[in-house]
This record gives sequence, structure tokens and C-alpha cells, in this order.
Amino acid sequence: MNNEIKSVILAAGKGTRMKSDTPKVLHKIFEKPLLGYVLDNVKNIVNESFVIVGHHAEEVKDFVEKNYKSAKTVLQSPQLGTGHAVSMVCPYLKDFQGQVIILCGDTPLIREETIQKFIEYHNTQKSDITVMSTIFDNPTNYGRIIREVNGSLKCIVEEKDATPDEKSVKEVNAGIYCLNWNKIKDAFSQLTSNNAQGEYYLTDIIAWGKKKNLNVNAYILNNNDEIYGINSRKNLAEATKLINERKLAELMDNGVTIVAPSSTWISEDTEIGSDTIIYPATYIEGVNKIGKNCKIGPCAHFRGGVEVDDNCKIGNFVEVKKAKIASNTNVGHLSYIGDAELGSRVNIGAGTITANYNPLTKEKSKTVLKDDVKIGSNTVLVAPVTVEEGANVGALSVITKNVSSWALALTRSPQKVIENWVKKALNK
Ligand code: UD1
Ligand code: MG
Repeated sequence: MNNEIKSVILAAGKGTRMKSDTPKVLHKIFEKPLLGYVLDNVKNIVNESFVIVGHHAEEVKDFVEKNYKSAKTVLQSPQLGTGHAVSMVCPYLKDFQGQVIILCGDTPLIREETIQKFIEYHNTQKSDITVMSTIFDNPTNYGRIIREVNGSLKCIVEEKDATPDEKSVKEVNAGIYCLNWNKIKDAFSQLTSNNAQGEYYLTDIIAWGKKKNLNVNAYILNNNDEIYGINSRKNLAEATKLINERKLAELMDNGVTIVAPSSTWISEDTEIGSDTIIYPATYIEGVNKIGKNCKIGPCAHFRGGVEVDDNCKIGNFVEVKKAKIASNTNVGHLSYIGDAELGSRVNIGAGTITANYNPLTKEKSKTVLKDDVKIGSNTVLVAPVTVEEGANVGALSVITKNVSSWALALTRSPQKVIENWVKKALNK
């Protein structure tokens, strides 16, 4: 055996209970598909991943190919069960001597550290097959871990095949496995579909391994949140909440103030520096980096691709997307900053918009505001446009041309004052 590790991620199932035209594994949490969470959590552990696709295969394949270079998709059609799904990689792993970890594409909460500990356990036990298990007070719908009297593993029984005694077992199969591939690969041509669902169950490899006198173990996971699976919209909302709670706790531990955790939503892929304060009702999705000592919100919306340097303010009702904002810059209120680069000490007046999108050409263009630029309230910056260092823009301007350094640009009509106009109108 060598120490190469590959992963197989099961993602071919239909996801009927989502009642959706979108394949289940492409449903998103903070703008990242469920499958993306699983692939991200194994990418530092394995040198190659196989994603088993079937239902809406093209869409899933497209997502994987665009975002994960070390992952391959393998088609499973028709979908005859989890064991059949894994058997699809056999032709690719004929001579593979390392380990294969198997995960489900609809289980986004599993963490990299947990997978690492799981593999460590597999190695220290000198195991041939290790399955991850956990304890649920209500184990309904999960496969049950059945043990021998001496406590060693016997087999896994699915809910639909279980006797009342087996159903009362609270230790369940988490659906995550580590296999010494060359010892297990033959199992996949020997599984049968002789069960209540008429499927080839992956879970049957436990009993198969026992029969072959292989070393088969279960790794019991204490935190059962991590194997929370998504089958419905309710599950999706619950998983979003769990991922968010985990992120907020991590940020607070690292010195970020979250004023109201119950109304704050921050994606796993957002970094925030210490002493930054996140005010209530802020929603941060996608990949972002926020520096130290910033003030964010209340009611700010980050849509991803945003980098904010130290000591900045992104205030109430401000939406930011794909923007680089240098230190000591303020975007205080009611603004939209998208596809933009803002220098240091820039001040953006309330109600400023970067008009980045041309609906006719469907192209997006960039707004560049250099250091010390001040933009008056209610300005529209029509991209592509650059305002050079130190320039000011008067309130209510529509800026369509570049502005040179230290200049003042304004496009509003001059103020007219008609003396006593009101009195005349009222005949006074
Ligand atoms: C499976 C396990 C169960 C475990 C549970 C944990 C089996 C037989 N049962 O049950 O013991 O407690 O996971 O969540 O393995 N898939 C395919 N191709 C198929 C069938 C399924 O790729 O032909 C994929 C699905 O898309 C999904 C994963 O495999 O990502 C699990 O399938 P699912 O039908 O959800 O299995 P469960 O019934 O939940
Ligand atoms: Mg099933």
C-alpha cells in the first residue's frame, strides 16, 4: 500500500424531496453549492476526487470542471444504489494501491479536521475498512450500526430492512468510509440487490469485509451536526444556520465583535480581522476578506469577491460585490459598489452607485477611485470610469468620463433662486 489518498463523492441521486429543477448537490448555502463544501473539505487531503454524477449530470459536471481541477466526474446511469455508485470508479482505480475515502455530496458540514482524524484512526487501527458512525437520539432513516456481543462491528442495516430490535439502535452510519482499496475493490462486483429497496448497498461492504476476515472498524463521531445531510428545503435552512453558527463562533474567538449573532450571516469563506465590528442584519456570502478594525453594517450585504483593508466602514444598506477597498475608506450609507477598486481614505457619499452593468451588451465594467477621492452623495459612476487621486465629485453627478487628479467634477445644473416666487404664487 502507498500513502496516496483519493476520494469518491456520491452525487448521482435525485433529491426528490427538494422539489426542484436544480440537482440537490448544486443547491447553495451562502452562494456555494453543497458539493463545493465537500470538495473544499477534502481538497487538502486527497490528490484526486471522483464525483459520481447521474441526475442532471451535465450541470453537476460543469460545476466540478469549472471549479475543481483535481476532481473528475464519473457517470452512473441508471442509479442502482450507493454500492453501484462506487463501483463506477473501479475501472479508474484498477491498480491503485492507496486509500479511498467515500463521502456524500449532500453532507456539507463535515470538516477537514474531522476527515483527517478519521483517516488517522483508520491508520492507527490498521483498519481495512473504517466507517464513520455517530449517535442520534432519533436515528430514523439512517442505516444502523449493528455490533457483535463483544462490541466489534457486524454489519449495517438500512432502516427499510431493519427489524424492530435493529431499529432501536441509536448508532448510525454517517455515510463516510475509508477503504484500503486493493483489499476492498473486489467487493463491488459481489454486492447484491437483495434488499427492501432493490439497490446495491455500499453499506454491505462491512459484512463482506467481516466475511473475508478483514479489519473492519467504526469511528464514532461526537459532533453529529457534521454529518447532517440535506434532503429537503428545511434541511437546507437548518444546515445554513449550523454553518453560520460555526463561522460566527470562530470569528468571535478570533477577536471579531458580532453585535447580534441571531441576525448576522457570514459565509465560511469570509476572513475577518480582529477588532472589526459586525452590526446586526448583515449578510455576507461568497469569498471575502475584511481587514482589522472595520465597521460593517448594520444591514450591509457582501456578495462575494470583496476585499476590504483595515479601518474601513461599510455602513447601513450598502451592497458590495467584487470590489477591492483600501484602508481608511468609508462607504457609509445606501450605496452600491460593484466591480470597483477604491483607494485609501476615499469617502463615498450616501446613495452613490457604481453603474457597472450594461444591460444591452450584458457586459460589466470597472470603476476605479484612487486614493483620497471624495464622492458627493447620490452620484452615479458610469463604468468604465476612473477618478484620479484626490479628485472630488459634486453631489448628484452622473460621471461618465474620467476625472483628473485633484479636480472637481460635477454634472448637476446650477441652482436657480427666484425671489418671492411662493408669495406671488399665493397672491400674497
Ligand atoms: C445512506 C446509507 C445509510 C446512511 C446514510 C447517511 C446506503 C445504502 N445507506 O442512506 O446507511 O445512514 O446514507 O446519510 O448507502 N447516490 C448515488 N447513486 C445512487 C444512490 C445514491 O450517487 O445510485 C448518492 C446520493 O446522491 C447521495 C448519497 O449517494 O449523495 C447517499 O444516497 P441516499 O439515497 O441519500 O442514501 P440514504 O438513504 O440517505
Ligand atoms: Mg436512499
